[in-house]
Amino acid sequence: MTDPPGETRRNSSAAAEQQEQPGEQASLRGFIERIAKVERLVRVEESTHWRFDIGRITRDSKEPLLFENIADYPGQRVFTNGLRDIRLIGLALGMEQEASREELIAEVRRRASNPFNPKFVETGPVLGNTVEGSHLNLMALPIPHWNENDCARYLGTWHLNVTKDPETDARNVGVYRMQLLGPNQASVNTSPESHLALHLEKSEREGRALSMAVAIGVGEAIIMAATAACPYGMDEYELAGGLQQRAVELLRCPGVNLEVPANAEIVIEGFIHPHIRVQDGPYFDYTGTTNTNRGAFLFEATRLMFRNDPIFRGTSIGVAGAEDHQIFALLAELQLLDFHRSSVKKHIQDSVLKQRLLRWTRAGT
Ligand SMILES: Cc1cc2nc3c(=O)[nH]c(=O)nc-3n(C[C@H](O)[C@H](O)[C@H](O)COP(=O)(O)O)c2cc1C
Repeated sequence: MTDPPGETRRNSSAAAEQQEQPGEQASLRGFIERIAKVERLVRVEESTHWRFDIGRITRDSKEPLLFENIADYPGQRVFTNGLRDIRLIGLALGMEQEASREELIAEVRRRASNPFNPKFVETGPVLGNTVEGSHLNLMALPIPHWNENDCARYLGTWHLNVTKDPETDARNVGVYRMQLLGPNQASVNTSPESHLALHLEKSEREGRALSMAVAIGVGEAIIMAATAACPYGMDEYELAGGLQQRAVELLRCPGVNLEVPANAEIVIEGFIHPHIRVQDGPYFDYTGTTNTNRGAFLFEATRLMFRNDPIFRGTSIGVAGAEDHQIFALLAELQLLDFHRSSVKKHIQDSVLKQRLLRWTRAGT
């Protein structure tokens, strides 16, 4: 990877590298390897631009894509479309490729009702490189400008937002989109009913910032769990452990009281400013139209950590069957889809889902 400008501390790390093996099976890298083994990985070797190319190629394709030659970012990679169909979802969860959709859903249902406690580890590959303070520049990451209809580059499209309830310390892990606003700032777009919004509300009552960690390039089971409707206070890492049939290995962040997957590709520590709202969007969303949130939160990054040669994970949505639709459809069948009490969203998602389910029936997959 080209180093982010400023001082990147490389943690001399036979130790960190050796740690790559144990959890690798459940990591994004392990998943990409499995996709390559079943000969579905499309390596995009020709030069692609982070501005529009990566997003357009992602939306036009139904295959998992590893972009290996990104303009302005020599040596860096972006992965998209990992969960673009039900077989890939099965592969992400380590299931038989021959399983039918019904068998797969039944197995996911069984796993979802048997959560695993996460396991703490002392070190992990994401601790390999650290940039902090005034040296931090998020634009050193190959963050795509996914769609011509988006107002800017989006840092968070397929990632985790980790926060804690300031009163009870209960953790929440969710997926809330994040627009890049500057070298160390991004918006956080949440519905008012989201658990992250509840955490911020509590810390704002005390006039305090809310610590947040963003993990990019994590095992896909954790993304599925983070998007599922878990009751307030339930730990999404436990659900993820159930889905992947192995405890999620967690690292305590060095600078904030939060835990992130040890095998994440990239982790950003920081905080949400209290009582500040910014505009997020226009963003081309899952409905196939743009939306704007003028009341989004303002995240400030304080530390960037990444594995050697990190793989940036994101996605481009807004087309039927995009990978977010695949997750929504799966969660809907498991009754784990949440609309945060928005009847409009429920209506839109129901119709989107209905189309997808009809298509699956026709395709017989
Ligand atoms: C790709 C993707 C992007 C999402 N973006 C957002 C978002 O920007 N804001 C939001 O409130 N929910 C978003 N969601 C849905 C939430 O992840 C989901 O509602 C989750 O259950 C929220 O967690 P919570 O109930 O703990 O707040 C997104 C889901 C996916 C799959």
